[in-house]
This record gives sequence, structure tokens and C-alpha cells, in this order.
Amino acid sequence: MSTPATPRNLPGRNRRVILSSRPVGIPQASHFTFDEASLESLAEGQFRVRNIYLSVDPAQRGWTNEGSNYSQPVPVGDVMRALAVGVIVESRHAEFPEGLHLYGWFGWQDYAVVGPQAVVTRIDVIQAPLSAYAGVLGINGLTAYLGLFKLGRPKAGDTILVTTAAGAVGSLVGQLAQARAFHVIGLAGDDAKFARCTSRFGYAAAANYKSADAASLLDRLVPDGIDVFFDNTGGDLLDQALRRMKTGGRIVQCGTAAVSQWSPTPTGLRAEREILTRRLIWSGLLVFDHSEDFPGALADLTGRIRSGMLHYEEDIVTGLLHAPGAIARLYDGRNNGKSLIYLGE
Ligand SMILES: NC(=O)c1ccc[n+]([C@@H]2O[C@H](COP(=O)([O-])OP(=O)(O)OC[C@H]3O[C@@H](n4cnc5c(N)ncnc54)[C@H](OP(=O)(O)O)[C@@H]3O)[C@@H](O)[C@H]2O)c1
Repeated sequence: MSTPATPRNLPGRNRRVILSSRPVGIPQASHFTFDEASLESLAEGQFRVRNIYLSVDPAQRGWTNEGSNYSQPVPVGDVMRALAVGVIVESRHAEFPEGLHLYGWFGWQDYAVVGPQAVVTRIDVIQAPLSAYAGVLGINGLTAYLGLFKLGRPKAGDTILVTTAAGAVGSLVGQLAQARAFHVIGLAGDDAKFARCTSRFGYAAAANYKSADAASLLDRLVPDGIDVFFDNTGGDLLDQALRRMKTGGRIVQCGTAAVSQWSPTPTGLRAEREILTRRLIWSGLLVFDHSEDFPGALADLTGRIRSGMLHYEEDIVTGLLHAPGAIARLYDGRNNGKSLIYLGE
């Protein structure tokens, strides 16, 4: 078989980050290796995307672990699954021409050969910087928006509690809630982050959740109870928040960052009595279940960014070499805003 000709101006090799062993819990740099593969030929209906920004997401922990009940784990030996922003550099699909920018499932690598099913959104480069489409106009913005409004369903006068409040999702939840005059309270993992919650992200009050035990923090921050809990951590904060929910309150279970691993199954306080007696609605959020709502949410988020009403922070490092340690860095709380790896344009 002949080697495909290298498309013009493209290097002949694709650098890839490979999952080389299966982690239990948080993947470390040692669970990944690099390789280089030659560029594959395109089949009819496919296109080649040159990645520009690779996304780093807490969910990648779940994608690498065995036993996830919502997605197949990345096979050992495969390119690490990841969202990315890129540009089409070669195409055999009439509706996806060269030069089109996309956000989708392109993996931690220089180039992805994909079809339309891998695309999450087409990017309008005039509306916002490219990086925004991997964060505030990507999974993070959509999760904040749809989790808060569709599952949280806040009503006038509600108190909303948010964990990882200064993160890529949490910083947006705070601002979106404040813009509709809800009373929004944040918990973040260091003093600089909690200060930004109130100075920049719309929170009426915030605290460093490492500065005191969960029960006394919540007694101080939400003395009258919680209507909506947008929870990204689970663990002790969730255990204590459940006991402070108001009757008919809603919990949006968006993430479980505080639980370092699920095997063996962790134990904690029981929840059923709180759910029953407080008549709570506890909703699990998987944002891709709500793809029919993406266009409306993205139009609103884009408008807010363009009018300067929505701030977003990005934590960008340059070079594929940063990828293997990037998930562990998130779980150490070292990111300030959306974690991205820039590969160049
Ligand atoms: N359900 C969905 O469809 C969906 C989609 C996207 C994101 N999410 C979830 O949304 C959450 C935020 O995601 P993101 O992309 O915006 O990340 P992020 O908040 O920017 O970064 C992750 C943050 O998690 C916090 N964290 C790490 N370990 C923790 C621990 N042991 N206890 C408490 N907090 C810990 C750290 O913040 P601190 O320094 O403040 O502790 C870290 O900065 C994650 O749980 C993610 O899984 C869910």
C-alpha cells in the first residue's frame, strides 16, 4: 500500500498522547506516553482537523478509569479522548470545507481524521476568540447555563450555592445567577480564588472550603438554607449541604471532584431522609444529553460575552508536552479558569 501524500504545508507526522496504562482515580503524567504516527488517508466523508486548542477537563478522569457506567473507557494504547478546537486542513466532505473552524472530539494530538459525528459546534471566528469556543462557548459554558437554568430552575429570591465556584464552570454559574438577581454563594479551594468569586464572578459571598469544616462554613454562609445547590464536588460539602436544603430545593449534580476514586465505593452520611423530608429534586447532569438546547444557550452566552457582561478566565499552556500532567493539575486545583493546551495555528 502506498503512503498517502502529505497535504501541502503539513508536517508528515501526527504527534499523539497515548493512554499507556489504566489509572485508578486521578490520571497522572505517568499514565501517558507520546508517539508519532504518519498521516492517514481520508475516506470519502472525512476531513482532517489540525488541533489548535486542546481541552483539559475533569471528566477525563472518568474516561480513563475502568467501570464508568456512562461512557466506554479510553482503551489503553489509544489516543487520549478530548475535546478540542481546530481547523479543517483537508477535506473529503462538501459541507466541511478546508478553513472551517470546529469544536469537537478530536483527541490529544496534532491532527484528527474525523467525520461530522465528531463535531460539537461550527465556530464563527468573528464572534469570539478561538479559545473561547473550547470553554465559555464550549462544554463549560453550556454546563453552567443548562445546569443552572434547566435543571436548577431558580426562582425569584432563591439562594444558590456553588462548589468549585472560581472554576471554568463555577465562575460562569455565579455570573449567570447574579445577572438574574439570585443570591449566589460560592466555595473555592484557595483564598485568591474565593476573593475573585466576589470581585469578579458575581457571588454575594464566598469562602475557601479548606479554611474550616463544611458544617460551620455552611452555617455561616447559608444560615437560612439553600434553594439550589449546583454541586461540582460531592463529598463532605454535599453531605452538609443536603442537611441545609430548603423544602422543594433542587440539587444539580454536575461533578464529583472531591471523591478521589469510586472503587471501592466510598461511604458517607445517608441522604434518603433529607431527600424525602425536604422533598428535594436531585438531578444528574450530563451536558451532552441536552444538545437540542445548545444553540439557544450559545446564542445567549455569545451575546453576553460580546456585550462585556460575562467574564471568563483561561489557563493556557503551550505545547503538547503539557498534556500528560494536565488532568492531575486540575485535581490539584492549580488551574485558574478554563485549562487549555495551545498547539499553535
Ligand atoms: N456533568 C457535566 O456534563 C459536566 C460538564 C463539564 C464539567 N462538569 C464538572 O464541572 C466541574 C467543574 O469543571 P471545570 O471544567 O469547570 O473545572 P474547574 O472547576 O475549572 O477545575 C476543577 C476544579 O476542581 C476543584 N477540585 C479539584 N479537586 C477537588 C477536591 N478534592 N475537592 C473539591 N474541589 C476540587 C479545583 O478547584 P478548587 O481549587 O476551587 O478546589 C479545581 O480547580 C467538574 O466537577 C466537572 O466534572 C460536568
